[in-house]
Amino acid sequence: MQRLHKTILAPSILAGDHADLRGSLAAIEKAGLEWVHLDIMDGHFVPNLTFGPQMVKALRPLSRLFFDVHLMLNNPDKFVDPFIDAGADQITIHVEPRDYPIAETLAHIAERGCRRGIVLNPDTSADAARPFLAHCDIVLLMTVQPGFGGQSFRKDVLPKIETLSNWRAELGLNYRLEVDGGVDLSTAPSCISRGVDTLVAGTAFFKAENRTKFSEIITQTNN
Ligand code: DX5
Ligand code: ZN
Repeated sequence: MQRLHKTILAPSILAGDHADLRGSLAAIEKAGLEWVHLDIMDGHFVPNLTFGPQMVKALRPLSRLFFDVHLMLNNPDKFVDPFIDAGADQITIHVEPRDYPIAETLAHIAERGCRRGIVLNPDTSADAARPFLAHCDIVLLMTVQPGFGGQSFRKDVLPKIETLSNWRAELGLNYRLEVDGGVDLSTAPSCISRGVDTLVAGTAFFKAENRTKFSEIITQTNN
């Protein structure tokens, strides 16, 4: 399979040390990585709360990592500007909330000079993504029900990964294809072989005995 993009591992600092997020960012850099994944939860779209734009703004000057901001919010359109102002390099928004304008929000993120993309929950069909694909820098497929780190990878999402990968080729698009949830050394290869180039790993990265080695194994398709 022809790979459009270099494989990126984006550790989720949700699994980092919340009393020392500065140290968690440093650990990601020390492992030779370029991206950090920031999970923003509102207690409504998902049954959990994490952190907001103020935290992202405070972390921004501490690191040169690419800030991959995943908004798990009922009204992401109301929050994209504060997160861009805080220093997000990329924002992904879910397609499931009914009452916000997805296309307009993607356009607005791009107008503000930020990369943008959509996210699909494990049970959301690939068709829900189709109208937006031409307007995405990245498509994120959840491989767990969002809300918490440390859950098991949902193998039933693999056919959808294949679909989004095939559509990318058929439509001549070049969005990144990202997976998030339960990604580790045993589940990453089945994603990469289906065209995934961007992998989020929270627990598996931060709990790895040797984070550099873990990162190298996950991104070895680059060599
Ligand atoms: C789940 C979050 C994920 C999560 C991944 O709601 O979007 O980014 O932190 O954590 P692990 O890798 O532990 O499944
Ligand atoms: Zn996430």
